[in-house]
Amino acid sequence: MPPTAFSAVETRPYNVRVSDAYILGIESSCDETAAAVVRSGEELISNVVYSQIATHQPYGGVVPELASREHLRAIVPVVRKALADAGKTYDTIDAIAVTQGPGLAGALLVGLSYAKALAYAADKPLIAINHLEGHIHAVLLEERQRGQHDLEFPVLALVVSGGHTHLYLAERNETSWTYRNIGHTRDDAAGEAFDKVAKLLELGYPGGPMIDFLARHGNPHAVNFPFAQIKHRDRNPKNRHAADEHRTDFSYSGIKTAVLRYVEVHNMTESIHLRREIVSVIRNPTPQDYLAACDRQTLDLVASFQRAIVEDLVSKTLAAAIDCGVATLLVTGGVAANSELRTTFEARAADEGIVVLFPSRKLSTDNAAMIAAAAYPRFLAKEFADPEVSSEPALRLG
Ligand code: KG4
Ligand code: ZN
Repeated sequence: MPPTAFSAVETRPYNVRVSDAYILGIESSCDETAAAVVRSGEELISNVVYSQIATHQPYGGVVPELASREHLRAIVPVVRKALADAGKTYDTIDAIAVTQGPGLAGALLVGLSYAKALAYAADKPLIAINHLEGHIHAVLLEERQRGQHDLEFPVLALVVSGGHTHLYLAERNETSWTYRNIGHTRDDAAGEAFDKVAKLLELGYPGGPMIDFLARHGNPHAVNFPFAQIKHRDRNPKNRHAADEHRTDFSYSGIKTAVLRYVEVHNMTESIHLRREIVSVIRNPTPQDYLAACDRQTLDLVASFQRAIVEDLVSKTLAAAIDCGVATLLVTGGVAANSELRTTFEARAADEGIVVLFPSRKLSTDNAAMIAAAAYPRFLAKEFADPEVSSEPALRLG
């Protein structure tokens, strides 16, 4: 049986208060050290995110060893600040929630070990959370904060980030949630494609926000990047439900190679080197600095690349939503911060009569508020982690 956060058992007779539970969330699965306090899964009380972008920027991607070290350095001040901002202490919180996986092994270990030690020392229950479930609950937290407590079911969630492009049918049973995976990327995640293309074109790290900005200045119809439909019957007989008879898979490694080919065929190498030289002498280059260092051909390429990814994500997700008779669509994860993805989803979902919800940009990328929010149903159900719980870099959801 694959390891899950749900096999956790209650080991101590904690005095669980059902109303107004303040949960301290801790997240350290990749390159953000984050802590937050959330009240009862519906009110964000404090939210601290320490981003390691500056550390990884020179390498054009996350270096796992450096990420672990940075988490070690940041975790204590980040957690203390989240508690102080919330006006809380270890005594006045009700539980500690932490990301168990998926993510980088060393990075996860820092957050989980610290959370375990805190839970033990403060005698508070510990709740282990799947990072992907966290991303889904970022949307739910903000909806409840706006006073929207009821979703129309069935709900389909697209989690689209640097590590994942996954589709889940989500259901709520009384207080708990269950998830069924109905599609995922076969190779690179969408965010990974943004980051790799940005690296190839010397546009800095992370690539998503930069390409989002630069794409506004280019022609999205300049280059045609076709995508294949990857829709097939689920071969696992266990999954032959009416709703997921077909799986919708994604693939984003091909477009990265297509961009590389375009660069070679159109002799863009020189302009890429020139940009590297221009930007290397600027301290903390801004998106405006990168824009000034881009020629028209680069801007058109970047706009066409983003357009192709957005088109593929939106059309496949909506086709899956229609197949499954979905009423509400949640789009979450770092790439959900993308402006073109948001406007395209909003317009096309409205055409189909489907409600589409996103987290705010702040809660789209990694944060701990989503971990604390996802923990609330488990807190109510007293699904507490065993003191021996370990991190699971390849933890699956559903
Ligand atoms: O959810 P997240 O913070 O971390 C993971 O769990 O992976 O997502 C980070 C990813 C990166 O690949 C980053 O380039 C991408 O999200 N991203 C974006 C945007 N902001 C972040 N991609 C496209 N457009 C954006 N505005
Ligand atoms: Zn994430």
